[in-house]
Amino acid sequence: MSKVYIETYGCQMNEYDTEIVRAVLQQDRYDLTDSPAEADVILLNTCSVRENANRKVFGRVHTLRHENNGRNVKIGIIGCMATDFKQRLLDDPHVPVDFIVGPDSYKRLAGIIRDAFENEEKGFDVKLSKHETYEDIYPVRQSGVNAWIAVMRGCNNFCSFCVVPYTRGRERSRSPLSVMNEAKKLANENFSQVTLLGQNVNSYSYDGKDFAYLLNKVSEIDGIERIRFTSPHPKDFPDSLLNTVAENPHVCKHIHLPLQAGNTRVLDMMRRTYTHEEYLDLVDRIRAKCPEIVLTTDIIVGFPSEIDKEFEDTVKIMQAVEFDSAFIFKYSERDGTLAQKKYPNDVPEEKKTERIMRLNELQKEHSLKRNRAHIGRMFEVLIEQEQTKKSDTDIQGRNDGNKLVIIPNNGYHIGEFIQTEITDATAHVLKGKVINHK
Ligand code: SAH
Ligand code: SF4
Ligand code: F3S
Repeated sequence: MSKVYIETYGCQMNEYDTEIVRAVLQQDRYDLTDSPAEADVILLNTCSVRENANRKVFGRVHTLRHENNGRNVKIGIIGCMATDFKQRLLDDPHVPVDFIVGPDSYKRLAGIIRDAFENEEKGFDVKLSKHETYEDIYPVRQSGVNAWIAVMRGCNNFCSFCVVPYTRGRERSRSPLSVMNEAKKLANENFSQVTLLGQNVNSYSYDGKDFAYLLNKVSEIDGIERIRFTSPHPKDFPDSLLNTVAENPHVCKHIHLPLQAGNTRVLDMMRRTYTHEEYLDLVDRIRAKCPEIVLTTDIIVGFPSEIDKEFEDTVKIMQAVEFDSAFIFKYSERDGTLAQKKYPNDVPEEKKTERIMRLNELQKEHSLKRNRAHIGRMFEVLIEQEQTKKSDTDIQGRNDGNKLVIIPNNGYHIGEFIQTEITDATAHVLKGKVINHK
């Protein structure tokens, strides 16, 4: 039996897809391994969202080739780099890969691997589908407390900087029934949390049913204690969704709301379809309904032609909102995107560095302030790991707002809910003591 090793890069959607790939390959009698040294097939499930994501993978292909020199190992690139680079990737002599398979073609993966061994053929399938949702496949997950469920795939937004609509194709949603059946099965397997995924979850739509409907339906399933979702787009955050987050006790009080930039001219060039003021109004609307909400975001600095004064509008939004955390990126030009075609990548690298450092500093202040406001308060923590990075005598989990909480380990186990009082906080974690556990 051939052994397959998979490495995953990029976003949660890729994590989920790796679980789909595991399922598809196991059905075809492949065995999975955690060690590239004993694998016959090595798959890199890749991300193309920024250039450094690509660079990492190119480097990794070389290392893997080198380490496995002399063995008959096939290395394949799957995921977003496959659909982004297409044939160019197979033709590039500097990237010695055996086959490439895009995110909508995983059902053909086993056949392509077989051809690679039998015919020494460089397999290639990067077609995107209008329909594939893999709803008929039950992913092979690693154990834990959280299970991803992709409820929609693809993106129709075409933000001008973003390669995702090209790498993952058009939006399509899977049926509420298939999502619920999967969540029920997960509950029976003791997953107490599910995270519903989509490039833009509030575009979820199936036979007139929207995302709020889906969240409520999943929340009715016995055993699913917590439901998270990512990411909604600020352009369309309907009241039905907001009410669900605010009122449904199983839906976690955390919204990841990608801002990207604070200046309206820049937002317009990014094709985000909201203004500085509209974003702030949305935050006000969310906080009015749900004051305890945890808000996180994504920001890009140095979009083409962004001048200092416009960058200050991003600072202003951050100061007004005080996000709980933020992922901040330097603009990276992606081939084929509208921004690449229309706007020269003209903000100097040093400027981008200066801006990202400034925002990271500011965010750290806000994270610390928000986290310290938790001190003295009580939260239910779902244990995720029986050690922490730094200590064997501590255990870590998350509260409803997705904050990492560290507590002394008194023999608690993964999956337990523990009533915790927060005693201390840094910008990254909360520390707590146990009040009660059930
Ligand atoms: N669908 C998600 C975003 C997926 S990509 C959403 O809209 O919420 C994750 C993040 O990567 C984006 O929010 C954006 O901040 C960042 N990103 C995407 N393309 C980028 C680029 N070309 N350069 C820098 N950052 C980028
Ligand atoms: Fe990219 Fe925009 Fe779609 Fe998000 S919504 S995946 S940023 S195009
Ligand atoms: Fe990357 Fe593809 Fe996700 S480009 S961010 S892995 S959708």
